[in-house]
Amino acid sequence: MSPHAENSTHKRVWWKEATFYQIYPASFKDSNGDGWGDIPGILEKISYIASLGVDAVWLSPMFDSPQIDMGYDVSNYEGVYEPYGTVEDVEKLIEACHKLDMKLILDLVVNHTSDQHAWFKESRSSKDNPKRDWYFWKPARYDKDGNRMPPTNWRSYFAGGTWTWDEHTQEYYLHLYDKTQPDLNWENENCRKAIYDSAMRFWLDKGIDGFRVDTVNKYSKVTQFPDAPITDPSSDIQPAAQFWCNGPRIHEFIKEMNDDVLSKYRTYDKKPVVTVGELSLTPEPEGVMKYVSAKAKELDMIFQFDITHLGQGPPGCDNKYDFAEWKLPEMKRIVEKWQTFIEGTDGWTTVFCENHDNGRSVSRFGSDAPEWREASAKMLALCFAAQTGTWFLYQGQEIGMVNAPKNWSIEKEYKDVESQNYWTEAVRVSEQGIDPTRKKRIASGLQLMARDHSRLPFQWNSNVNGGFSTGTPWMRAHDLFKEINAEAQEEDADSVLSFYKRALRLRKEHKDVFVYGAFELLDPDNDNTFVYRKTYEEKTALVATNFTSVAQPLPQIGSGMKLLASSYSKTVSDRLQPFEARIYIDY
Ligand code: GLC
Ligand code: CA
Repeated sequence: MSPHAENSTHKRVWWKEATFYQIYPASFKDSNGDGWGDIPGILEKISYIASLGVDAVWLSPMFDSPQIDMGYDVSNYEGVYEPYGTVEDVEKLIEACHKLDMKLILDLVVNHTSDQHAWFKESRSSKDNPKRDWYFWKPARYDKDGNRMPPTNWRSYFAGGTWTWDEHTQEYYLHLYDKTQPDLNWENENCRKAIYDSAMRFWLDKGIDGFRVDTVNKYSKVTQFPDAPITDPSSDIQPAAQFWCNGPRIHEFIKEMNDDVLSKYRTYDKKPVVTVGELSLTPEPEGVMKYVSAKAKELDMIFQFDITHLGQGPPGCDNKYDFAEWKLPEMKRIVEKWQTFIEGTDGWTTVFCENHDNGRSVSRFGSDAPEWREASAKMLALCFAAQTGTWFLYQGQEIGMVNAPKNWSIEKEYKDVESQNYWTEAVRVSEQGIDPTRKKRIASGLQLMARDHSRLPFQWNSNVNGGFSTGTPWMRAHDLFKEINAEAQEEDADSVLSFYKRALRLRKEHKDVFVYGAFELLDPDNDNTFVYRKTYEEKTALVATNFTSVAQPLPQIGSGMKLLASSYSKTVSDRLQPFEARIYIDY
């Protein structure tokens, strides 16, 4: 069977052809001048969002939280962080989205809670509290000199170990992330039931259309808690993902979540609710397929992060921000791998190059130099718009927002707990002479890849703080808001914003071949251009993109193909201009 014949069997479902727009509430729009974005601010901008042509909104956590990890540390699933608004405001948002025919999904953050969650406060109150077992508590170990040691040598995500000592009950608790984010114990059935009620049913009953599921493959741990092998002899903590990722009961847990909760709900227009899981550290298609095969009844789709890891060490190691040069063929192979792995299967894939955990795509994958940043943004738009899978856009991507300026101080302007932990560690190991150049390396890694870049305030117009807030924003507004902002771009038919809207329209008009087509990578070793072919039954599209700032030869465009779109308003016949993208079709 030819690949496209198989591919045309992908069952059509609303969420496969929908484009999702991610909103990071702290940084979208501040309606009352306190410096924090809020839900009323999102409501003010709801027609802007709809005008893009997206079909669904993913709202990052707006729950009650001490905001150590920007809301990914939830202290009450059924409450809304006060500066963001109220539960009623979220109800209004649900209604406003539905009125404009957009779905709304929330973040489901249930691998861990905040240490300020009532469940954890009870759990830590005494060893015999009924909720003690809702988190992981372990006694200390002691070395031969009697020094207290944590139960395992695991390294956490945000630099540092995974265990924190609790004086009150004289035991350690487990946290894969910050010490204020204790991991929930999914082995405990009452704990799981409470999660389903509080974090899921509470919001599903209010009419949301699904969830983006945070850190979805970490609920099941190897509960013997073995030490990890020593791969970094200079450190007393070691990468240990094999003991806390894709663990022994993970599929059982996700199936249960689906059977007991999700399968009982419908979207506002009576369709199945959707889930998209955050699936890190799962490099192989076989591993991913277990989660997204329709038969498995686990998740509808997942984010696989090879693309955003370009240039990074793997998370859980200590070199995420130690930038390593990469070449375009690596990116092309990654795209090919995650485009094609669903062919002939009942699984599905996602397409994205930005979210709240990464630097801006223009800065990372194109060029944010003033003369190229617009061209880069448009090129990336077209390069991704024609890929198979569900497309996810991140706020600001549609206006070509770029990374924070390199001269901003990391200590002062970067707010992310991960950035600060990496930075502190880098400064320490440099100053102690353990790795003298680390400070410099991590600084440039953070300048390119820190999570902070995507968290800068949205640039609405050329007023103070880019129109984000009339007060002092929680994160400094980009120096370039006068040059890059939505208002100016709305009036300009040639802007990045206008181009994104067009790309979204084209994707809808040609959804057979763009959303559902079979992918074939052409000229894989070319370091400068990314060229691929999409086919669907009798239809073919050819996408040619130039990832460099110098003109490149145009690839062979078969006869019968006509130009559907270029990211330049004027094309030249024999070559791709700097950062140009084109799509040709034959129908
Ligand atoms: C996910 C989120 C990230 C957060 C982490 C811990 O990776 O995307 O922002 O820090 O989970 O909840
Ligand atoms: Ca506010």
